[in-house]
Amino acid sequence: MVDTGSHVVSCGRHADWRDDLAYLDCWPNSLQYTSMGAKPKVIVTRKLPEAVEARLRRDYEPVFNADDHVYSTDELIDLCDGAQALLPCHSEHLAAEVIARLPDSVKAIANFSVGVDHVDLEAARARNIIVTNTPDVLSDATAEIAMLLMLGAARRAAEGDRLIRADQWRLWSPAFMVGTQITGKTLGIIGMGRVGQVTARRARGFDMSIHYHNRRRVPAEIEQGALYHERLETLLGACDVLSLHCPASAQTRHLIDAKRIALLRPGAILVNTARGALVDDEALQEALRAGHVAAAGLDVFNDEPDIHPGYRALANTFLLPHIGSATRETRDAMGLRALDNLDAIFAGREPGDRVA
Ligand code: DGY
Repeated sequence: MVDTGSHVVSCGRHADWRDDLAYLDCWPNSLQYTSMGAKPKVIVTRKLPEAVEARLRRDYEPVFNADDHVYSTDELIDLCDGAQALLPCHSEHLAAEVIARLPDSVKAIANFSVGVDHVDLEAARARNIIVTNTPDVLSDATAEIAMLLMLGAARRAAEGDRLIRADQWRLWSPAFMVGTQITGKTLGIIGMGRVGQVTARRARGFDMSIHYHNRRRVPAEIEQGALYHERLETLLGACDVLSLHCPASAQTRHLIDAKRIALLRPGAILVNTARGALVDDEALQEALRAGHVAAAGLDVFNDEPDIHPGYRALANTFLLPHIGSATRETRDAMGLRALDNLDAIFAGREPGDRVA
């Protein structure tokens, strides 16, 4: 049974692609295979956890990336020859021109990521390629990193670590390495989706009051007393710490620009675990230099891993290399979730996490 949202197509007995590929007759996107009974060939762009690769070997004809390098577009297109699906990560930029070059055999892109800003969804739709992501399973891990960034930036953790490693710690004094306490402060959350909600829960453990801005107000049971700001601008002036949790898109590019940074309380702290594109680097660095923003904790950057070098030169930045979802538990869960989506697609069912 395929629930396309607008209509339901019953595929009868064809519950599994291994039984009979004839279910493809009623596949809404006209998925067709040339070799009946063959396992779908899946291009896996990066090294994945062992449990995920084992399941891929069992159920598919996977093509793994032996040395885990980032494929060039030409390499990727060549590899996709005769493949039915692609299992990419955020490191692959599947822009419209790349999607246009994918062979017709490719019918699904099952991302190993919750963010899908690296995939041109319109281009995929235009080619009837199903695109999925991996929501939910990385919310806890990413919220942990949001808290780590908040604490690390507020309490100058990177500075302290550098000082000790350089053997430059000479004294203790009341004025030494004084930071900002986050306990009892106001946390502003932009994007009260899954990660934003978990971050709010963790922050309540520090007695923080939660304010948020979201496209829509969330129900009271999710709000848990958090204060909704219909306008982003009013949130900015209300919080001591601002944490970004909204997706990157054409609409949210440089959401945090010079004008909005100026609306932050002097001495505010900015935390970003979402996407670098949300922030205008020059504007943030200027505010960090001036002290208007006291500190920034960043796990994501524009043009990663070639980040704006200005961040390295600033003492009041706490920087991590995009490790929001990097726990064993979460990476396993992301991979298995991507495979659940592929399984559904090749069984003729609607995948749980379809984004296009
Ligand atoms: C995600 O899943 O979007 C993480 O940022 C890793 O890419």
